[in-house]
Amino acid sequence: MDIFWECLLACVTVVVLTDQVLAVRKPPHIVFIVADDLGWNDVGWHNPEILSPNLNRLARKGVTLESAYAQPACTPSRNAFMTGKYPYHTPLQDVIDPSEPAFLSDELPILPERLKALGYSTHIVGKWHLGFCNKKYTPTHRGFDSFFGFYMGSQCHYQHTKPDRILRELSSSVSLFSSIGGTLLRNFVRLHSVGHETGRDFRFNDSIWRETEGKYSTHAFADRAIEIIQRHDPDTPLFLYLPFQAPHSPITVPPQYSRLYNHIKSPIRRVYSGMVTALDEAVGNITSALYEKGLMDNLLLVFTSDNGGHPYMGGNNIPLRGGKNTIWEGGTRVPTFVYSDTLLRKRRYTNNEILHAVDWFPTFLEIAGGRREFNIDGVSQWQMISRGRFSSRHEFVYNIEPSGKGAVRIGNYKLIVGKPGRHNDWYPVPGMKPIKRKRFKGGRFDNVTLASDPYLLFNIKDDPSESRDLSRDKPEVLEALLARYRVLNATKVEPHRPGRVAGADPNLYDGFWSPGWC
Ligand SMILES: *[C@@H]1O[C@H](CO)[C@@H](O)[C@H](O)[C@H]1NC(C)=O
Ligand SMILES: *[C@@H]1O[C@H](CO)[C@@H](O)[C@H](O)[C@H]1NC(C)=O
Ligand SMILES: *[C@@H]1O[C@H](CO)[C@@H](O)[C@H](O)[C@H]1NC(C)=O
Ligand SMILES: *[C@@H]1O[C@H](CO)[C@@H](O)[C@H](O)[C@H]1NC(C)=O
Repeated sequence: MDIFWECLLACVTVVVLTDQVLAVRKPPHIVFIVADDLGWNDVGWHNPEILSPNLNRLARKGVTLESAYAQPACTPSRNAFMTGKYPYHTPLQDVIDPSEPAFLSDELPILPERLKALGYSTHIVGKWHLGFCNKKYTPTHRGFDSFFGFYMGSQCHYQHTKPDRILRELSSSVSLFSSIGGTLLRNFVRLHSVGHETGRDFRFNDSIWRETEGKYSTHAFADRAIEIIQRHDPDTPLFLYLPFQAPHSPITVPPQYSRLYNHIKSPIRRVYSGMVTALDEAVGNITSALYEKGLMDNLLLVFTSDNGGHPYMGGNNIPLRGGKNTIWEGGTRVPTFVYSDTLLRKRRYTNNEILHAVDWFPTFLEIAGGRREFNIDGVSQWQMISRGRFSSRHEFVYNIEPSGKGAVRIGNYKLIVGKPGRHNDWYPVPGMKPIKRKRFKGGRFDNVTLASDPYLLFNIKDDPSESRDLSRDKPEVLEALLARYRVLNATKVEPHRPGRVAGADPNLYDGFWSPGWC
């Protein structure tokens, strides 16, 4: 009986759910929330120590995606979200440095441009990090009606300044261990920052924006998102892209959030956990605003992260191996869920089918009633998400670097070619002593030595922690994956890495990082 009804339902579904019928339904509002460096073990549904009640509730009542992947780093993942293409198929393959004239290719329309053409109002609140050296590469010239936030990444959460990347990270994390060390380092940064310009970075549309200075980024972004929601005409479909900067370093949060974690001994983990809770509160406030405005009747909310947690910046990916900037699961498998009151035929379940960051673009296009896109790597996963069907993909590319090193997943198997990155360990939840020792005495490189073999092979389904290399035990599987890898490797495009230029200096632009130098 059950089987009979299920078959009947499936047949009826195929007939009824043609594109035409979907198009009759009003295109849903889409809210796409991206956390920054949020690790696998940094959310309440994987780790009860983290207080994220709003996210937990939405995940539990929606669809929790346990095999959702992103690129190992920030700019590449955002590139994938916006273009539906693997970064290795585009010129923008690396994190953009502040004074580097790199940008998102303008050869193909990006997600907000496509949605705008379908009648959507499109807004971005948060971090862009896809280039700004020319106005034409900035959000309001790439399909967004409005932009409120940062052109770049890792800004100071309160002052919204963006100094040299490496020195900034160092000084902020040292200050958590010792205020003396922090002060010394800050002085060092000040004295030696000639050529490493510090500028402000906050915009409202094209204009520099000083009014939010001093306001914690998560609160500033939540307030602007709520303003957009409150002013929105419900008859127009809304696309709200919310790339928060939390919980990315610098690791800072208003004390009322870190106080909730007074029992955690590691200062960096305590503050980081508070950052996640502030983000959770922001999502709670935004969700309330969506209900109050009546938009929840026809809305899809997606929550994901741009890459795994950074093991030395408070994040944690246990039981996964590695972290941000690696193609281990810990760098790429990200906490993700989809929520909707009305659009999901199957809800309240955990979905283990694979989905890659490039898939959001065609998935959103499908529910928005758009034409299928053929020039991209992504595939729509709407049937998989909303009905619990199989994934539309059998394989995906973690990344392939210009040198040819990288990783691919085919079915349950993962092949890694070359060194996976510089964090190869299974990092425990940060505790003060091990972090201090590893980072400042042993350096930031781990002492895990990998086999000299250029290939590693794992069965991710049986061994998600990547602890058993099968490359010797299963030579035929290795050969098959390698053959496919060679084909994919041959499709990579030349990266555009222009290097730093002096014309970017914010001192030439009123102290703000600004377009106009490419
Ligand atoms: C930015 O653009 C949006 C949409 O056009 C508009 O509502 C908002 O007032 C603009 N903000 C500023 C500061 O001009
Ligand atoms: C959420 O809303 C409450 C009540 O308005 C406010 O106090 C809090 O700061 C907001 N939180 C965030 C992260 O915006
Ligand atoms: C990938 O391509 C590069 C050249 O672009 C080549 O040097 C490398 O050997 C290739 N790797 C594999 C595994 O095919
Ligand atoms: C790193 O080296 C030390 C000293 O040889 C050793 O005790 C430790 O287990 C090593 N760490 C890992 C993760 O292998």
